[in-house]
Amino acid sequence: MNLKNKKVILAVSASIAAYKTPELVRLLIKAGAEVQVLMTPAAADFVTPLSLATVSKKEVYASVSNHAQWNNHVHLGRWADVLLVAPCSANTLSKMAHGLCDNMVQAVYLSATCPVLVAPAMDDDMWHHPATQANLSAIQSYGNKVIAPEHGELASGIVGMGRMADPVNIVAYLNAFFETGQPAQVPFRHALITAGPTYEKLDPVRFIGNYSTGKMGIAFARVLAELGVAVDLVLGPTAEQVAIPGVQVHPVESAQEMYDKCLSLYPQVDLAIMTAAVADFRPATQAGQKIKKQEGSDNMTLELVKNPDILATLGSLKQKQVLVGFALETNNELENAKKKRQKKNADYIVLNSLNDSGAGFGAATNKVSIISEHSVAELPLQSKYEVAKSVINYLINQ
Ligand code: C5P
Repeated sequence: MNLKNKKVILAVSASIAAYKTPELVRLLIKAGAEVQVLMTPAAADFVTPLSLATVSKKEVYASVSNHAQWNNHVHLGRWADVLLVAPCSANTLSKMAHGLCDNMVQAVYLSATCPVLVAPAMDDDMWHHPATQANLSAIQSYGNKVIAPEHGELASGIVGMGRMADPVNIVAYLNAFFETGQPAQVPFRHALITAGPTYEKLDPVRFIGNYSTGKMGIAFARVLAELGVAVDLVLGPTAEQVAIPGVQVHPVESAQEMYDKCLSLYPQVDLAIMTAAVADFRPATQAGQKIKKQEGSDNMTLELVKNPDILATLGSLKQKQVLVGFALETNNELENAKKKRQKKNADYIVLNSLNDSGAGFGAATNKVSIISEHSVAELPLQSKYEVAKSVINYLINQ
């Protein structure tokens, strides 16, 4: 276990998600960590210090002194291998962003020489408020890592973004964090990914589709979420089950639906990766009833019309976003892919060649090259998860 013998400070702030922290402490200790719990004064309204002291087997500090004794925040900040702020309320996030120091959590945060991981928890509207988003950017610019919140039912009853990542996933994130060492500063906060096929309806029971499974795009979503990037995954019809913390899945069926969803999400993201195998054409008309065989005719002609090109549209609207497209070519691969990058105004094209066995549709592995304006980087045959990791690492290091 990567958390074995690691010294973890868990700083709990005042959010309803604090009720999950005794379980989080239990899981950290089970993974071999030593846990020192700190609380903001208001956090005690949501979970008792006694519960946390009992599961962590240590006194819980909620203030810098208890009037008789000073709790040495500098010592604690240097003692820890990691400071985990979970749940991190909008208020604590704001204080961290601005360097306020009016409680024990803030004092230790400002003294900490170890990596700091933050698992926000708040209501959907608070999460999306520009002030919260600016505070998130600020703490990330200081080198802190954000464990993205999940989409789901919130304490207010609203369904949206802001649930603290599940304790099991926070522990998994910490394990991965210690395994890979200090991950590079991730320059992305919010990603849009398309994945899977599109189905273009002919009539109520038939469609034109393709064999894409969505595995490549789902692998990108997983890798980015593990790095603390919030992900919107616009997913065409697939048998794959996706339940990844920090990944909001938007199921769509047709290219037009995928296009509409992408356009509404695009302004909020700083990275867009288009892995979907979008149908280039759709039937000109969709029959309301099942199309019947024509008596006396052995042929049938379908009229198709062009679908919108999502990647090219996002390319034309590109502002702050890094835009990545995919290309699957059967001939003149490199040249065609380079042209595609330019034509669609993408920053990168990931080229997968059908000439490589083990690459492309449905396979668990893939072999790709990354084409940018001035270079071509060839990657080896790897699992789709490893391919996603390599591509993201490549983007991070640009
Ligand atoms: O032009 P072509 O279909 O080969 O381009 C492939 C790239 O463009 C992929 O990234 C794919 O997801 C994207 N694409 C799209 N909308 C379309 C067709 C392709 O976003 N209608």
